[in-house]
Amino acid sequence: MASQLFRTKIVTEFAPSDLKRCLGPVHLILLGIGAIIGTGIFVLTGLAAAQYAGPAIVLSFVVAGAGCLFSALCYAEFAAMVPVSGSAYSYSYATLGEFIAWFVGWNLVLEYLFAASTVSVGWSRYFVKLLDHFNINFLPAALTTSPLEVTNHGMTFAFTGALINLPAVLIAAVITAICYVGITQSTLVNSIVVAIKVSIVVLVIGFGVFYVNADYWTPFIPENTGTFGEYGISGMLRAAGVIFFAYIGFDAVSTATLEAKNPARDMPIGILGSLVICTILYILMSGVLTGMVHYPDLNDAAPVAVALQAHAGLHWLVPWVVVGALAGLTSVILVMILGQARIFLSMSRDGLLPPVFGAVHPEYRTPHMATLITGTLAALIGGVFPIGLLGELVSIGTLIAFIVVCIGVLVLRYTRPDLKRPFRAPAVWVTSLLGVAFCGVMAVFLPADTWIRLLVWTVIGVMLYFFYGYRHSALHQR
Ligand code: ALA
Repeated sequence: MASQLFRTKIVTEFAPSDLKRCLGPVHLILLGIGAIIGTGIFVLTGLAAAQYAGPAIVLSFVVAGAGCLFSALCYAEFAAMVPVSGSAYSYSYATLGEFIAWFVGWNLVLEYLFAASTVSVGWSRYFVKLLDHFNINFLPAALTTSPLEVTNHGMTFAFTGALINLPAVLIAAVITAICYVGITQSTLVNSIVVAIKVSIVVLVIGFGVFYVNADYWTPFIPENTGTFGEYGISGMLRAAGVIFFAYIGFDAVSTATLEAKNPARDMPIGILGSLVICTILYILMSGVLTGMVHYPDLNDAAPVAVALQAHAGLHWLVPWVVVGALAGLTSVILVMILGQARIFLSMSRDGLLPPVFGAVHPEYRTPHMATLITGTLAALIGGVFPIGLLGELVSIGTLIAFIVVCIGVLVLRYTRPDLKRPFRAPAVWVTSLLGVAFCGVMAVFLPADTWIRLLVWTVIGVMLYFFYGYRHSALHQR
């Protein structure tokens, strides 16, 4: 038994692609940006600056970005070397064995599926805001808010009286339909939406910079209040843990490996390129926002709008920010559903999930059944659960995947030094260990109840593995 649990799958054992290979480096960078810029910059920046870091939120973005960069270098090495679409799941299978691979794959559901749901709840809020702007109020609150809320410090649920978050369900349904019909259509929609959101971020930075008052940046790191995590260095680090969510998504590029024309060359470009572009935009944006208004004023779920509203000359940009946020959130949902379906496909091909997840549409050449299942679950979860609960689960699931990938890359250097590595993470010991350290610290900073939910999630996953995956695994069958 132990031999199967820890048996690894050698790289050449992975199935060949029957998906459509049509993505070049620009598509991959756009996919990455599509997944990265969303709730993080449009919602979380303000809260983290006001409550934890002050203007030092800029440093929080540098710290979280550096942590992600170490992980991204490890992802890039794997993605160029291992020709599969299962991302961290497949990389774990190649290095740490089937059981860890299942554990990582199960946690990736927290990242991808739950991110799609979380962001669809955020999308719903912005959508209602946009309707309000045009005085359209035909949707009652019972149809635009979550029927469940978290109570008792996150341990129990209560009914809110609402029926369902309908806009969240509908956006997930529309995006699932796009992902179902083709990768070309999906990347086209993604590219348009990314162009809109990046233009709006650049506009905010470009115009906002003229309204920066350097007095708001002093002191740059506000003095700690005496409570750990409230300003000072500890506050800056806590804010880094919160805004880590803003960086999630560059790894989704690696789920498109089987659709890339030249993965060996283009995967590292897509992963690292999208991360670097977004890091620069985030640092500039957070610097400008904290220079436009005093940081306590940013304590709002729409901080960009707050900063613009403070200056009469920038009011015209406010509706555009709502459009930018909607565009941003749309592409995040799209890439997350796209990625989750491909991870399910890989797990099914390995026998750890039923064959239906591995079906590929004969005409569209997409994993259509996995897409449909992912989209349905994302719509149901987004329609029912509140945003805070979902968001923290996304962060913990992602951090675990990052840590395993950082360890895996080091392990494979020693267990399979012979493999061709078109891209090599520089100074692998340093990169890998710093990746583990940064991600580990950010995980430790997440609230305790998130860890308890992770434990429950893991127990369910382990039971499923022994009930199904262990017996149906392609390795076991042989
Ligand atoms: N990085 C993505 C966002 O901020 C998940 O919405």
